[in-house]
Amino acid sequence: MKLVFATNNPHKLKELQQILGGQIQLLSLADINCNEEIPETKETLEGNAAEKSFFIYNKYGYNCFADDTGLEIEALNGAPGVYSARYAGEEKDAVANMKKVLDQLKEIKNRKARFRTVISLVIDGREEQFEGVVDGDILTAKQGEEGFGYDPIFQPEGCSQSFAEMDAQQKNNISHRGRAVQKLANYLKTLNSDL
Ligand code: IMP
Repeated sequence: MKLVFATNNPHKLKELQQILGGQIQLLSLADINCNEEIPETKETLEGNAAEKSFFIYNKYGYNCFADDTGLEIEALNGAPGVYSARYAGEEKDAVANMKKVLDQLKEIKNRKARFRTVISLVIDGREEQFEGVVDGDILTAKQGEEGFGYDPIFQPEGCSQSFAEMDAQQKNNISHRGRAVQKLANYLKTLNSDL
């Protein structure tokens, strides 16, 4: 079965292909000659993920899945949420994004936050969504050098390290994306036997 993963991130594609195994052949956007910007105009992770997967399905005719992730901070009423990538501006600067969060939480005791990933899968025009969540706390300063985005300031519940102090395997085992992807993989395995 061929399935497009609507991402331009080769890292994500490789990781997913490993998890999904040989039964499913993942295609990148480059593989289907999609060089255009995929619209992401909705105000929820669910909306954006669905917008991306249906865009590919409707325009290019491939079964497809897309993901969208946000950091949701309780004391900031769920911000930055769907705006996580460009929280401090259009440059999508991770350091500036973290600084903005740390500044906003300076005097605030409630540091509770979660990462949430939504995956939208469209097969033959029918959509299924899969959610992965990891709860944790926002640290008071950056810790660690691994990972990307908000990893240095996020410490998952029950852990004594930030995401940026873990190796990729450790992080994938408990992360929002890892959990959502595992649900997708389980679903595809049940489907694959029918195809
Ligand atoms: P995307 O939907 O995967 O592109 O994620 C949107 C934004 O959320 C990214 O640009 C990062 O700022 C943030 N983000 C997503 N996943 C992670 C993660 O695993 N660690 C830290 N930040 C993340």
